[in-house]
Amino acid sequence: MLEDKDRIFTNLYGMHDRSLAGAKARGHWDGTAGLIAKGRDWIIDEIKNSALRGRGGAGFPTGLKWSFMPKESDGRPHYLVVNADESEPGTCKDREIMRHDPHTLIEGCLIASFAMGAHAAYIYIRGEYIREREALQAAIDEAYDAGLLGKNAAGSGWDFDLYLHHGAGAYICGEETALIESLEGKKGMPRLKPPFPAGVGLYGCPTTVNNVESIAVAPTILRRGAAWFASFGRPNNTGTKIFAISGHVERPCVVEESMSIGLKELLERHCGGVRGGWKNLKAVIPGGSSVPLLPAHLCDDAIMDFDWLREQRSGLGTAAVIVMDQSTDVIKAIWRLSKFYKHESCGQCTPCREGTGWMMRVMDRLVTGDAEIEEIDTLLDVTTRVEGHTICALGDAAAWPIQGLIRHFREEIEDRIRARKTGRIGAVAAE
Ligand code: NAI
Ligand code: SF4
Repeated sequence: MLEDKDRIFTNLYGMHDRSLAGAKARGHWDGTAGLIAKGRDWIIDEIKNSALRGRGGAGFPTGLKWSFMPKESDGRPHYLVVNADESEPGTCKDREIMRHDPHTLIEGCLIASFAMGAHAAYIYIRGEYIREREALQAAIDEAYDAGLLGKNAAGSGWDFDLYLHHGAGAYICGEETALIESLEGKKGMPRLKPPFPAGVGLYGCPTTVNNVESIAVAPTILRRGAAWFASFGRPNNTGTKIFAISGHVERPCVVEESMSIGLKELLERHCGGVRGGWKNLKAVIPGGSSVPLLPAHLCDDAIMDFDWLREQRSGLGTAAVIVMDQSTDVIKAIWRLSKFYKHESCGQCTPCREGTGWMMRVMDRLVTGDAEIEEIDTLLDVTTRVEGHTICALGDAAAWPIQGLIRHFREEIEDRIRARKTGRIGAVAAE
């Protein structure tokens, strides 16, 4: 359980002044030049020692990712790109950072860029985040006026420019290489990896793409120390973490907590618990729409971190917790996600382009009960042909929620098919 004194984002709810003066009063931009003076290796080692794992969904170790950037320049510029294209259904944590605590991100951009030898960074912000980009742009302008960005940024001796780029509403542009393509002015389509962006990224140059939260926590880690950050959570699952909790809880919210907090404690401490009480819980999607759901019986002792959730064949993902009570038509909920992934597939590779259509069409039938029971296994088979066979993770993201549904709610699907066949339920439109 996190105490107020250990929260990095002390203005997550916009109760205080988000301007530079307010940010400084809360301890941001404190001794930034001194941190930079400690050098690139020190910064990267501290981030490695903190065991910070990427907060965008995949959980890749941040310090390790920074260390992939070439140490010596071969003449190509280096870039930091911040992925602020937050589009995962259920996810709205970066939004709160950008609109209420934008200076945490801007200071993080300067320090991270210095550590990776980048004189420029781009923040690629989701097109729909209009107020957030206004808040962020105002903060960037303020930082330039105060000498915190630009030549000799923050008196560090490092020249650094920060640009804000607006997306145009495509989910796939949150995939790091599609994002890079889009930044370059091309259609947002993922590239094959390898090469990873650290070798060939933006304009063919060494690039690191990091999530907003990963960058925004970095200055505080350096100020308070890697050991302080690593003292929260469990080994390999450290730090504070922002959770976005929605659905059937009394008070949905976005909150910074300790990594590895129990799911029940998280919901009861911050959301007033599940609507109608814990016994009324049916399922939880613990990490945004791309991860399989957990049925209620697995939620009792659920630990909200990368490793525990992976052991349950789910995932922490973006830490967007979607709570579903007993009133939820869980087949319809996952059907809706199938529709989403079908719509957002860029169509570049066949298993995803065709597979998302196949999966959605079978889900269309399962949701109304107008299917044969054997189709459940056919659907499962299709998911395994998509999973792991595509250029980017969207194919997996489309397959996994369906696999979770079948794993945990097969009986409910079969019941619906039988009820439809015996006339116990009438024809239902999927929409
Ligand atoms: P990934 O596991 O392929 O990569 C994670 C990061 O580690 C990337 O930056 C990648 O370049 C780097 N990396 C991995 N292996 C590497 C290697 N051998 N060498 C160098 N760098 C390496 O995962 P990906 O596709 O970046 O992210 C998938 C996740 O994104 C999903 O699990 C989902 O939770 C999340 N997601 C988040 C969204 C959001 O709105 N925040 C939207 C959609 C998905
Ligand atoms: Fe495009 Fe889907 Fe292939 Fe990703 S997996 S590149 S979204 S078609």
